[in-house]
Amino acid sequence: MELLKRKIEKEGTVLSDEVLKVDAFLNHQIDPELMLAVGEAFASLFGSEGITKIVTIESSGIAPAVMAGLKLGVPVVFARKRQSLTLTDNLLTASVYSFTKKTESTIAISASHLSKNDNVLVIDDFLANGQAAKGLISIIEQAGAKAAGIGIVIEKSFQNGRKELDGLGIRVESLVRIASLEGGKVTFLQEVRS
Ligand code: G4P
Repeated sequence: MELLKRKIEKEGTVLSDEVLKVDAFLNHQIDPELMLAVGEAFASLFGSEGITKIVTIESSGIAPAVMAGLKLGVPVVFARKRQSLTLTDNLLTASVYSFTKKTESTIAISASHLSKNDNVLVIDDFLANGQAAKGLISIIEQAGAKAAGIGIVIEKSFQNGRKELDGLGIRVESLVRIASLEGGKVTFLQEVRS
């Protein structure tokens, strides 16, 4: 996605050989026009898959997921990483280990928002090691629903996530793929959509 690549080049900051900061438009401040374009890109990629629901994880997955939901005309559910006053029973959970943060956390979605008839698209902002997406897939499967695809805004192709998710046999689409962040420079792997 050309627009996203230009935004990353212009407003992204390489923090290390492994981490790209995109707080200016995705992870802290959010660019609504860009998010709408991201939603349109996901809708065009997955529009023929019969998606009934989108599942993401708080917090940075929510903006792209909502725009994809808007364009596909389906509801969006986000997994919570913290306990909620109202989200108390009937929970589907998964344990997610973050290699980036070296922390283990439990993510949860209420069983009432997923049914066995759902055909679910998973959306997330970053694909690093794939653990968050795998946790979401586990929750979808616990509900007896089908995981129809995974849509990623920014894939760091030099980490393990893509391989992990390809191993699940589920369609994975990333709007941009980053081959390397070495030398303080973003090198893109290939363009998926323009
Ligand atoms: P994984 O799910 O692919 O295994 O990723 P990992 O555990 O390594 O990542 C943990 C958190 O760090 C996630 O956000 C993920 O989006 C974020 N992250 C990973 N790599 C990068 C990067 O290069 N740049 C940025 N900006 N974020 C990265 P989170 O902690 O859940 O945060 P949020 O969604 O609440 O914002």
